[in-house]
Amino acid sequence: MFGRTRYIAWATQFYGKVPYDLATSGVPYATWAELGLPTPDVDDPAAFAALRGAIARYNDVSPAEVVPALGTSQAIFLAYAALLSPGAELLVGAPGYEPLTRAAEGLGATVRAFDRRADEGYRVVPERVAAAIGPRTRAIVVTSLHNPTGVRVDDDAVRELAAIAAARGAYVLVDEVYAPFDDLPEDGVFRGSARKLAPNVVAVSSLTKCYGLGMYRVGWVLGPEEVVERAEAAAVATFGHAPLAHASYGSAVLGAVGPLAARAKALLAGKRALAERWVASLPNARWSAPQGGLFGLVTLPGRGDLLASIEARAREAGVLVGAGTFFGAPESFRLSWATCDAARFSEGLRLLEPLVSP
Ligand SMILES: Cc1ncc(COP(=O)(O)O)c(C=O)c1O
Repeated sequence: MFGRTRYIAWATQFYGKVPYDLATSGVPYATWAELGLPTPDVDDPAAFAALRGAIARYNDVSPAEVVPALGTSQAIFLAYAALLSPGAELLVGAPGYEPLTRAAEGLGATVRAFDRRADEGYRVVPERVAAAIGPRTRAIVVTSLHNPTGVRVDDDAVRELAAIAAARGAYVLVDEVYAPFDDLPEDGVFRGSARKLAPNVVAVSSLTKCYGLGMYRVGWVLGPEEVVERAEAAAVATFGHAPLAHASYGSAVLGAVGPLAARAKALLAGKRALAERWVASLPNARWSAPQGGLFGLVTLPGRGDLLASIEARAREAGVLVGAGTFFGAPESFRLSWATCDAARFSEGLRLLEPLVSP
């Protein structure tokens, strides 16, 4: 059975509902009018194949490696359904994004964590994963950029994980929903998918975070043939197929990724540096020091669980950060510069002072 995902329940309650939202993890929504696209034909079933083709082109892989999904969330479910059966084991990086755990548990798998440690810059350390892997491990899961720290998993580490997994007949699942932030593709092609790094790497992603297309739910699984086949079987068994309008609009909006990448770059410009300078000015705070993206993790060692103080700041000053509690890092918060412009972001940082003062 699927347990409640506490993080999403909390995010639904607070995110986007305060004047200084330093918590939300995607660039602001782009409206249909802003995209300037012709209205797609929503009656033509050829849109299903067109969507698969457009996802393949965007990711620079072959259509045979693609299973379209409703956002990264459903892509995670379909990938897990393809990789796991009851009693299987999954290794997932901690701290981490809670649905990656809940979805696997719901499918009857056992979830074990491996640490991504602050004193190692939240890198994935393959030796630690190798020490944790067991005979029932079916998949090693990483997010890159890492939620909540924003730290990238480098390609060599993914290849090492893939070799560790391959020795057990297992897979590496990379949730790369934030990966394009490293180099937002103004030509509309994301060339950095981890899928291309080794045969047993499965990637999940969507257009929701980088391009302001959260409401279109255009997501996918990229995997080898046997994973694609099983993920498609899971899709057919659980929802038949997605609405035709999802495919029609999905393939249309994939054609607007280039300009949306440029839009995202402009919206984010300069704010990571503001965040970095602010954290550096705080006594006793640690920073995950992401090299790109739209959030990083601030840790206040010795302060205990920050959740109540974070909620108090939201209520009293209208400023919200992402509570590390829900990522397994209670002395931390995720600081995002996705939605506020630079002036509002700076004011939000100022309003956080009572939270960060020793
Ligand atoms: C690591 C990670 N994966 C997946 C998702 C869900 O993405 P989507 O909105 O495309 O379902 C999120 C959303 O916050 C996320 O942080």
